[in-house]
Amino acid sequence: MAGGGYAAGAVGRRAEYYEGGVTVYFVLAVAMGSLGGSLFGYDLGVSGGVTSMDDFLKEFFPKTYERKHAHLHETDYCKYDNQILTLFTSSLYFAGLLSTFAASPVTRKYGRRVSILTGAVSFFLGGIINAAAVNIFMLILGRILLGIGIGFGNQAVPLYLSEISPPKIRGAVNQLFQLTTCLGILVADLINYFTEKIHPWGWRLSLGLAAVPATLMFVGGLFLPETPNSLVERGMVEEARRVLEKVRGTAKVDAELEDLKDASAASQAVKHPFRNLLRRKNRPQLIIGAIGIPAFQQLTGQNSILFYAPVIFQSLGFGSGAALYSSIITGSMLVVGAIVSMLLVDRLGRRFLFMEAGIQMIISNVIVAVTLALEFGRGAVLSKGISVLLVVSICAFVAAFGWSWGPLGWLVPTEIFPLETRSAGQSIVVCVNLFFTALVAQGFLISLCHLRFGIFIVFACLIVIMTVFIYLLLPETKQVPIEEIYQLWEQHWFWKKIVREDVSETMIRQPPQKQLPSDRIE
Ligand code: BGC
Repeated sequence: MAGGGYAAGAVGRRAEYYEGGVTVYFVLAVAMGSLGGSLFGYDLGVSGGVTSMDDFLKEFFPKTYERKHAHLHETDYCKYDNQILTLFTSSLYFAGLLSTFAASPVTRKYGRRVSILTGAVSFFLGGIINAAAVNIFMLILGRILLGIGIGFGNQAVPLYLSEISPPKIRGAVNQLFQLTTCLGILVADLINYFTEKIHPWGWRLSLGLAAVPATLMFVGGLFLPETPNSLVERGMVEEARRVLEKVRGTAKVDAELEDLKDASAASQAVKHPFRNLLRRKNRPQLIIGAIGIPAFQQLTGQNSILFYAPVIFQSLGFGSGAALYSSIITGSMLVVGAIVSMLLVDRLGRRFLFMEAGIQMIISNVIVAVTLALEFGRGAVLSKGISVLLVVSICAFVAAFGWSWGPLGWLVPTEIFPLETRSAGQSIVVCVNLFFTALVAQGFLISLCHLRFGIFIVFACLIVIMTVFIYLLLPETKQVPIEEIYQLWEQHWFWKKIVREDVSETMIRQPPQKQLPSDRIE
């Protein structure tokens, strides 16, 4: 799930006694969560199109505009290299990664809704300031506010969704956030396609439209109830019961409420979750879940393709409209990928998707690199056949990411953290992910300029490394109950040497409990 998602709260020992199901409240909560996901996606998707629009470049980056037009019909790797232009894109991620740490205590102490409302206000202001921008300062300020929106929204919305959903469908809800992120990207691409034709202010519309879902998210946040988990955590047990009754549509909520109380007591017993994460017994989670997977997700280079797809296609000699059109195709590929993943992840397993997609992405990168090496950079326009081959390879790459590293990059970390370190682990996941998003965004155009087609070989090599990493170090987590995850490490050829040395913990660990529906990982 983009932006995270916890298996949220309940230990679930009494899950077989839970009553109730899907209610209007739940449907409204999902609608609001979808707005959170699509806002994240919209902001990811919109900047690529806007930074390739002539009106936008003329206004803020005249030198880039001149360079682009001096070589309009030529292929040129350095046409768009401009660090301020990339700062416009990546400032959002730097702001997001810092604000995630501010969001975490707010979400815990004041509730999920406060963070959701803060995120919505920030998104709204960011969208408006960007739409009204008359200088680069306003542009970057707007992006920073959008980043804060992402930091708060991505921390709180997935958590809100997981906590408000009936336990049995939490896993599906987790994947839904990724799907709506990808839909947000696609909508941004479509909007860019049309606003590009509105001169000279179409780009303002693209950037400003983010304010619409932000407003809806704010209204949703005002009227929706706080989650029962958060209320219990803050000592408001009776209020939690009332909400639970409303959301589940039944008065028989004792079992679930008792589980919430247990879960809250258990997590409050861990005084230093970050320190706990550093223990040897949590080393696999730290290396794979908190650092490896979020960093590698970004090092696939996916966002470079996404942010700069229109720019790349233009640099490759496609016209401006055709460039945006191509990014609509890549956006659609992402949506298809997310749906494929939802359908297959619990059947084929996480490892299969990672492996298959890894191979597909390596091949696509090599094709792009070889084609560019042979055909590009001599000042000539690319032939139609070559252009089609490039677009097809890029689509194959994006689709593979869409059913593997995209959703699994968020799902797998949430599956492997034990309850006591889940929240701390999730903050690190969001932070590492956004840090690498910013790093890759900031480094991509300059690397394209200097390494030229070699940049795609660099990404191919990184994907080889991460595919081997998954093959060797990640055990299959498909349908493994949460309390049995530690057994995966104890039986793993590599991790067993590490975790077994944490003797004191192993001695006091409880034997696995009977498997209950809500104990399954979500
Ligand atoms: C990633 C984003 C990416 C999106 C769509 C998410 O899982 O975290 O960085 O842009 O998928 O590709």
